[in-house]
Amino acid sequence: MNTPPAAEAMKRAAAARALEFVEDGMKIGLGTGSTADAFLDLLAPLVHAGLKIVGTPTSQRTADKARALGIPIEELDMLGPLDLVVDGADEADGDLNLIKGGGGALLREKIVAASGLRMLVIADETKLVDRLGAFALPVEVVPFGHGSTARRIAAVAHARGYPHMVPVLRTKDYAPYRTDNGNYIYDCPFGAIENVPLLAVTLSTIPGVVEHGLFVGMASALVLAGPSGVRVIVGPP
Ligand code: 5RP
Repeated sequence: MNTPPAAEAMKRAAAARALEFVEDGMKIGLGTGSTADAFLDLLAPLVHAGLKIVGTPTSQRTADKARALGIPIEELDMLGPLDLVVDGADEADGDLNLIKGGGGALLREKIVAASGLRMLVIADETKLVDRLGAFALPVEVVPFGHGSTARRIAAVAHARGYPHMVPVLRTKDYAPYRTDNGNYIYDCPFGAIENVPLLAVTLSTIPGVVEHGLFVGMASALVLAGPSGVRVIVGPP
């Protein structure tokens, strides 16, 4: 699906604003998705002009793109704590909680976000919602027994007040979609999540669940672009 030009321009505007947070010598976590791609496109000319940064990618796709653009990358373990992580989101709320994983990279994105001193979320303003959950929550599971794991996810959801939630196995080319880590993803349409931290903790306790796309207390700021400009919503220090 092609992104409409206006949405494209907003993603670029958010990415451009995020560049203002980049400083010489920084170690930067590089997100995944179309908005994160826009950030890479804008970062590359600065690198070619002499900006010294090193990035660590959150997916194979981002690693490939960064290499193609000539942005230096290194494995996370070689870099240690990151100065900055710049990534997109599928939804964000006013408390800076996020749903991520629409692009399938949630596990590495969360590991990289957890390694960052600051995480900037870049997005067009349609991603800001009153309550998370209209976007089906991606949950990464190990392939072994994944159907049983999905049934446990559903049972937990039903017990927690989401009686109609049915996890849907993500597919690609008529086969289960495989993440960079070789796992499967179930997209879980919760609708409207009442208590995000509680659901996040609960999902993490289910055997077979590797990670879920709820990012709680990880984002430092939302950089949101709309038709009338870019605004930055900063979280608690
Ligand atoms: C990938 C993600 C992306 O950040 C999310 O899907 C947003 O993507 P886009 O910038 O293309 O809207 O979580 O796993």
